[in-house]
Amino acid sequence: MQYDLIIRHGLCLFPWGAEETDIGVRNGRIATLDARMTDTAEREIDARHLHVLPGMIDAHVHFRDPGDASIESMASGTRGAALGGITTIFDMPNTTPSITSAEAIADKAARVGASCLVDIGLYVGATRANTPDLAALERLPGVCAVKLFAGSSTGDLMIEDDDGIEAVMRSGHRRIAFHSEDEYRLQARRKLFKTGQPYATHMLWRDEECAFLGTRRIVALARRTNRPAHILHVSTAEELDYLADHREIASCEVLVNHLTQVAPDCYEALGGLAVMNPPIRDRRHYDASWAAIRDGRVDVVSSDHAPHALGAKTRPWPDCPAGLTGVQTLLPVMLDHVAQGRLSLGRLVDLMAAGPARIYGLQTKGRLAVGFDADFTLVDLRERRTIRNEWIASPVGWTPFDGLDVTGWPVATIVRGHVVMQDDEITSPPIGRLARFAP
Ligand code: DOR
Ligand code: ZN
Repeated sequence: MQYDLIIRHGLCLFPWGAEETDIGVRNGRIATLDARMTDTAEREIDARHLHVLPGMIDAHVHFRDPGDASIESMASGTRGAALGGITTIFDMPNTTPSITSAEAIADKAARVGASCLVDIGLYVGATRANTPDLAALERLPGVCAVKLFAGSSTGDLMIEDDDGIEAVMRSGHRRIAFHSEDEYRLQARRKLFKTGQPYATHMLWRDEECAFLGTRRIVALARRTNRPAHILHVSTAEELDYLADHREIASCEVLVNHLTQVAPDCYEALGGLAVMNPPIRDRRHYDASWAAIRDGRVDVVSSDHAPHALGAKTRPWPDCPAGLTGVQTLLPVMLDHVAQGRLSLGRLVDLMAAGPARIYGLQTKGRLAVGFDADFTLVDLRERRTIRNEWIASPVGWTPFDGLDVTGWPVATIVRGHVVMQDDEITSPPIGRLARFAP
């Protein structure tokens, strides 16, 4: 048999377990899980000593395109993704302008092919004005989900009241992704703190109850409307316990930062470079997040990549904008957690490939199976590296993980059979496309 690509001798992470086998690719799809030694291909990759994962998905990034490509364009953002072993990203709608209309989605979609190195899903932002249109907008090609900010963050997208949120939930039927911090409590507590207080004030302002209150409200509305909700960046022990009782209506995401950094140390070490929404919290929540990863409560792990200029991030609290780079470091940091024994490689694949595919209805991605897209992330579990700012592709040029020693590294990123990164080099022109979602 003749293939376009054969990946030989890798230890492949199938949904049914790990097996050493040779995978054959034809026309951008997986054609066989059992290529023969006599089979030939235009290109062969020797994956001896490597693990072959289904292409890793980062279901939560904020590129700044349109609006501020000097902070993160689709080109630079997907370059970071490819260097970090990510084959598909889902881009948030709080750009300038926001992605809230068919025209804005079409504009963005039209630019994917010319600029993106990996595949892309687009969130459409919910507003009061576009609520009646969401049922149609969520079905446009490439749209991964509606995003609703119930609490304020970067940008001006927000619907904070129950009636407004319920109206969104009654328009359309796909799972809605929520930033669930409670806006009323955020505003009331803001008065308690003064400009220039230590950066750790961030977690006192946006406290556990802001998150828990918000999540309880969203779950209640999801039940009332029978509309599935996806709670983004769950950051408290209380939410994780609560969500375990509501899994038939609510799924959840945990961020790599909440699994890696702990307050108050992170604020002392990083200042504004640790400020994000929802905040990094103390060890109790860190431990609870890991417990929820291990016992299966968490559906998705993502980065919430949200770059801001270094100059802005070093302003005093709360004038430093919230958000950290992360798309490029997500997989290396999670592989290091595997090396430290905090989760298995199989669970990592569940959280960063199968999980996002299941939650968002992503078609033909998220598992190694014949007929699925030939998206692969090849990793070397023994490779030791130090994450450095200089490695970051984002124009902002910083990472909260600068100086972190990790064990485990992506050595190739393959998108629909195109090798876009190999040995830390970008090896392809932009071949990214819109991902496909179930209607
Ligand atoms: O920290 C954050 N940054 N949280 C968000 O919800 C938005 C994001 C951004 O776009 O900067
Ligand atoms: Zn976000």
